[in-house]
Amino acid sequence: MTVFGASDVDEAARRGILAVGARDIVTPLARERARELGVEIVLATPGTAAAVAGDRRYPSSSVPQPGRGAGSPGTPSSATSAAVRPPAAGRPMPSPAGAAASRAAVGHRAEVAPPPVRPPSGALYRRGAPLPPEVRPAGTGPGRPGGPGHRAGGRVVVVGAGNVGTIIGMRLADADVFDEVVLVDVDEGRAAGIALDLTHTAALSGFATRVRGAGTVEAAGAADYVVITAGKARQPGMSRSDLISSNAAIVGDVAARVADTSPRAVVVVVTNPLDEMTQHAWRASGFPPERVLGMAGVLDTARFRALASLGGTTRADRIEGWALGSHGEEMVIPLSQASADGRPLGPEVDAVVDRARGSGAEVVGLLRTGSAFLAPGTSAARMVLAMAADSGEVMPAAVLADGSYGIRDVYVGLPVRLGRGGVREIVELDLRPDELAALRAAADRIRERVGALAVPG
Ligand code: 2OP
Repeated sequence: MTVFGASDVDEAARRGILAVGARDIVTPLARERARELGVEIVLATPGTAAAVAGDRRYPSSSVPQPGRGAGSPGTPSSATSAAVRPPAAGRPMPSPAGAAASRAAVGHRAEVAPPPVRPPSGALYRRGAPLPPEVRPAGTGPGRPGGPGHRAGGRVVVVGAGNVGTIIGMRLADADVFDEVVLVDVDEGRAAGIALDLTHTAALSGFATRVRGAGTVEAAGAADYVVITAGKARQPGMSRSDLISSNAAIVGDVAARVADTSPRAVVVVVTNPLDEMTQHAWRASGFPPERVLGMAGVLDTARFRALASLGGTTRADRIEGWALGSHGEEMVIPLSQASADGRPLGPEVDAVVDRARGSGAEVVGLLRTGSAFLAPGTSAARMVLAMAADSGEVMPAAVLADGSYGIRDVYVGLPVRLGRGGVREIVELDLRPDELAALRAAADRIRERVGALAVPG
């Protein structure tokens, strides 16, 4: 792995091109410099002229910290600053687990699945940057995410222009991957106002994605990806489950409309109670299960990693772990799969798990009105970006269990490999018996709650 810094971009400026390898890292500052100088960052495959052009590379240990904090505005994960860090947009969140998962992928138990090919930095997801051929699915036309034309293109519709929807819209616009992001809200003025406000940041953040507001799903138009955030948020003293009937009516209606308007879309559900609402949206949409998934595991895992980093010396992005099961009391964080810098976590990890499980309520309590939105919005955007890039990243998400882990026919948080068309496969981790039992118990509890909901239509 090589880390490319701003000085490498300076050197490459006369050629107008910087060739990097699939496992290399381009620092945020380097990405920014490449934009300033018009240097194209390309993925060099072995043997190509670009690969042997002899760009100067230096080992990661010699790369200085970039002077600017936020780095490139191009990807959701660019909020953290580091010269040396894993690829932002393409890295499976928990890599050791992901590697184990690859070995045990459902339907490929006997094979070693090839590692997903990922662009080395968010820079390659930017408009005008070439997608590496490996992430470009055959037969996709211009304007489709991952299609030829050197950009992902397409439209994302975010239903619900509350705080979470706003952050999703901002992260997606900043990534500069899509032709259009549409925020939909029953309060059309709010949707339009946030869309305009966000549009005003285009020059600051460097994106060409159009951002529009609409009052209905129909007015938003057909989408490649739809994120449903609509619904009531938790207030202090409420559990996520307290929202079930009011939000089921909203989510069921939205999902049915999405099915009519965007019959080929992939739907990501964010509305709480997450697991139940995702299953509800799936039923209401009539979509195949691989095209309806819920965001929660990405958020809960991010919280676990962030909180585990607070008490020690390991950065959050070097802590690995998974949050599975439900987005609530039955959250399962299997410690057999958790590590910090490749080493097991210390005894304080039990308190970290408890705090991660209660993090949503902790933020609700502090805010007093409404619930968390920065981490939830960023998590949902990460999922959409991973799919649009056809990255093959493995992330935890609420999906319809297919018999893996001994669970079937219920939406529950499991590790999944994401691709352009949604869930490519459920991936099986080598869990301990007690972890597996907790996961199955979580699925049973979700099944009971879903059973209490009326089947739409
Ligand atoms: C959370 O955990 C809102 O469920 C969301 O913060």
